[in-house]
Order: sequence, then C-alpha cells, then structure tokens
Amino acid sequence: MSSTEGAPAGVVPAQLLKGQKAMVTGANSGIGRATAIGLGRAGADVVVNYVAGREEAEKVVDEIMAFGVRAAAYEADVSKEDQVVAMVDRMVQEFGTIDIMVANAGLQRDAPFTEMTLAQWQKVIDVNLTGQFLCAREATKEFLRRGVVPEVSRSAGKIICMSSVHQVIPWAGHANYASSKGGVQMLMTTLAQELAPQKIRVNAIAPGAIKTPINRSAWETPEAQEDLLRLIPYKRVGEPEDIAHAAVALASDLMDYVVGTTLYVDGGMTLFPGFATGG
Ligand code: BGC
Repeated sequence: MSSTEGAPAGVVPAQLLKGQKAMVTGANSGIGRATAIGLGRAGADVVVNYVAGREEAEKVVDEIMAFGVRAAAYEADVSKEDQVVAMVDRMVQEFGTIDIMVANAGLQRDAPFTEMTLAQWQKVIDVNLTGQFLCAREATKEFLRRGVVPEVSRSAGKIICMSSVHQVIPWAGHANYASSKGGVQMLMTTLAQELAPQKIRVNAIAPGAIKTPINRSAWETPEAQEDLLRLIPYKRVGEPEDIAHAAVALASDLMDYVVGTTLYVDGGMTLFPGFATGG
C-alpha cells in the first residue's frame, strides 16, 4: 500500500474509476500529485505529466502502480501546443484512450501591479489558462473520436479544470494569477455548454488554501498560519488529499449529472469570513 500522507484509508472506493484512463498535468507535486494518486487508488490508470522534476514524477508513478493499475510519467510543457498534442497522442497510443483530463498544472509569479513584467503576466496566462485550453482541446478530440463506452462510464469523457478561489476573490499583488483563474472559470463553463450534448462533462475545482509548495510562505510558520486561518471559517488549512477526493468524485459516474459546476473546496474561504463579525 502507498504511504500517501493525509489520505484517510478506505474513503475512496477502490473500484470507482476502474478501467478509466486519466491524465493529470503538473502531477509531480502538490495538488496534482495527490490527485494522480487518488485517481490511481480509485482504480484508474494514470499518466503523470510534469515539466520539471522527473524524479518526483517517477515516485508518483511508483505510488500509483502499488494500487495494481498502470501509470507512466510524461514530460510536456502544457503551454506549448506541439508538446500537448504529442503527449495526448502518446497516451492514446500507449494506454488506448483517455477518459479523464485533470488540467491542473499552474503557477504563480507574484508582483505589485506596477512592477509586474509582461513576462510574469504572460507566463501565468500561458500555463494556467492557455495550458488548460490546449489540454482540454486535445482530450476532447479523443473523447469525441471514441464516444461513450457504457461499461466504462456514462459519459464520453470528463474534463476537470483546476481553478482557485481566486476565480471569484480578487487578489492584490496577483493580477496575473487571478486573471488566469477568472479565465479558467469562463473557459470551463463555455466548454461545458458546448460539449455537454456530446456527453462530455466539464467541471472545475476551486481549491482554497491548500498546503503545497506554491503557497508555503502562507502556512509554514505559526504566525503565517494564524493569519491564514482568519480567512478560513472551517479553521484548518487544506491538504492536497482534500482536492484529490473532490477530483475522484467529480470524475466518477456518481457525479454524472454534474455539468459546468465549480466545486469550491476551500473550508469556506469564499464565504466572506470578514463579514462574520464586520459589515
Ligand atoms: C493560490 C494559493 C493561495 C490560495 C488561497 C490558491 O489558488 O495558489 O497561493 O494560498 O489560492 O488564497
């Protein structure tokens, strides 16, 4: 069995995604890593995409294979069209098809607005928004080619966009990141509307503050954590497995009627906690 920290044993039904093939981008660390492992635990075969950090990706593959499913690490920069096309083609060749695309890869390049360079703006939009467009598009082509296989799933494919609470919460000092996630929200709902008639389900997860390398400074000291908890009514910082569980559920037929929804997994961060005592 795997030693994945924080994942409550037995929570995820082992056969929920049996026979399905999933790709998770940016799966060598953080939310992507936990999600890839969660999908594998639920019985899916998993492609672990990474752009840097091959060793970490291979470790994730080993953890997934311990569940008795297939897994492989594929290198590709999700912001590069040729690399995404080649990566999805390779998955179709090596795994037969794709049923679940988790467009997760994302990054931050923070700066006060007047100091934000075009390069910082562009990098975040390229990876967080254009990357999701490319991954969703290539997966969709394969979903449409293959269609519904009833023994595998009621839908022809599932796309899960990894968004953020910052698709709705403005975030000073992070204009590029918040804009990218606002874009993800509209990309997701538009794709959901366009593709639902073809039995493709497009949804998003909007994580709040989750303990990952992207926001280490916000939770690693007791003082930082205290500050952060003021923004979280549920009074705990999230774990990557909180997101993995949501992704497994959304990808499964338990959620077959869920189309075009953002699932906020944020301990209540989007409930305007400042208004609990103010206003
Ligand atoms: C960001 C984190 C942040 C969290 C809550 C996420 O989307 O990547 O850095 O802690 O939102 O603000």
